Amino acid sequence: MTRAADKMGPDDNVCLCFHVPLGKVTRFIQREEPKVASLISECLGAGTGCGWCVPVLRQLHRQHAQGEPMEVRVDPELYASGRRSYRRTGERPSRDPDGSGPTNDA
Ligand code: FES
Repeated sequence: MTRAADKMGPDDNVCLCFHVPLGKVTRFIQREEPKVASLISECLGAGTGCGWCVPVLRQLHRQHAQGEPMEVRVDPELYASGRRSYRRTGERPSRDPDGSGPTNDA
């Protein structure tokens, strides 16, 4: 039996629509210092498909702005299965895909 990962690794895709890995997004944020999270879309279109990853992109942006390590504490398989459900039903689970709860900040 495989054990669930407690967080994404740099090669795990944050944006599953455009296959954008976490490492690419974090390097983009460090290099470009986007003023608002929505500008992360300039990194290979991240967040411009189904929208599932947008709360995670916002979280990464916020973590960087606050000087915290950028990390996504969710098992990549659970994240991907949550997106499949989201695409089918249009509804998010009660917690955001990163497991941190609702993120309504920009
Ligand atoms: S997973 Fe990023 S837009 Fe769909």
